[in-house]
Amino acid sequence: MAEKIRIGVLVSGNGSNLQSIIDSAEAGKLDAEIACVISNNAKAFALERAKRHQIPAFHLDHRSFPTRKAFDTVVVNLLHDHQVQLVVMAGFNRIITSILLDAFPMSLMNIHPALLPSFPGTNAQQQALEHGVKIAGCTVHFVDEGTDSGPIIIQAAVPAFDSDTEETLSARILAEEHKIFPKAIQLFAEGRLSVQGRNVLIKPPSTSGGNFLENPAA
Ligand code: GRF
Repeated sequence: MAEKIRIGVLVSGNGSNLQSIIDSAEAGKLDAEIACVISNNAKAFALERAKRHQIPAFHLDHRSFPTRKAFDTVVVNLLHDHQVQLVVMAGFNRIITSILLDAFPMSLMNIHPALLPSFPGTNAQQQALEHGVKIAGCTVHFVDEGTDSGPIIIQAAVPAFDSDTEETLSARILAEEHKIFPKAIQLFAEGRLSVQGRNVLIKPPSTSGGNFLENPAA
């Protein structure tokens, strides 16, 4: 296994995506360790999940900061204190500013419960149902200054059925979120992602041994 990168996870709610990242890391499937979890919501169950796994967890109440930038400055300081190299937004319901973006250029990922660029913003699953889509899904993307508009890393699709409610469709999408977010993190950790304009290029995995023969007994 390669050297582990340190990731910081920003959350606001239940934290099922955080859990999928924790589980992947604990199963040895990620060349990453979770250095810290930060929530803007004191009641987020995600904080509890982090504590159960002995991950440093912090609550920062955004309402006690005069501006978004002031909040982001403290978030960035915390992330730097924990030597974070990649920031993942896993159900983080805050609009971020240039303070965070500039501190982690192309090292800030978000997960969105729609096949972007369709249905950015809030209530994506409900937007998709109201639009009458037959295929829905989720997207992991790098974050830029827009809303859910950054370069796309991985997407997964699920069917949308006539009988779906927002809840049933969301649950089907969430199951895929839990697969693609750890995958995107692992691609980043392996150094296989590069961004060219809007396109995220994914390098093939380096074959074990490269251009030399390995001792099969090793
Ligand atoms: C997910 O659907 C994610 O795509 C969206 O917010 C939800 C968070 O769920 N941004 P959880 O807190 O990870 O369970």
